[in-house]
Amino acid sequence: MSEQATKELLEAARAVRQNAHAPYSGFKVGAAIRGASGRVYSGCNVENVAYPQGTCAEAGAIAAMVAAGESTIAEVAVIADSPDPVPPCGGCRQKLVEFGAGDVTVTMATTDGQTRIMTFNQLLPGAFGAGHMGRG
Ligand code: THU
Repeated sequence: MSEQATKELLEAARAVRQNAHAPYSGFKVGAAIRGASGRVYSGCNVENVAYPQGTCAEAGAIAAMVAAGESTIAEVAVIADSPDPVPPCGGCRQKLVEFGAGDVTVTMATTDGQTRIMTFNQLLPGAFGAGHMGRG
């Protein structure tokens, strides 16, 4: 993916973060996914007064992608106002790898401009996959 494409993806994540519903944690997160088609899907965290019902930004972006009829992730960007670039939570790592190859990159960013790039394989080594159900 080109540097320009990554920058655009990060800008989409930054924009959608403004819409996050995070009255309980106060921690707004934005995520953007580029699908294999090149289209960009974005999502923000949506918290709920019944705390476990809240959803992460990455989950929102995945839902938007799937609802649009795509199922292959080419690139991901996540941004938050964090001291360090915010990594996807464990559950979201599993949700993301469902839809992309191990070398797909996740650009994690802070609102003040720090970035860190990791691949799906680095974020979730030894991921549970369909192959593990081979004897089922
Ligand atoms: N959160 C995300 O949306 N994505 C992440 O990668 C980390 C955490 C949200 C969930 C919750 O609304 C808030 O951040 C605090 O955990």
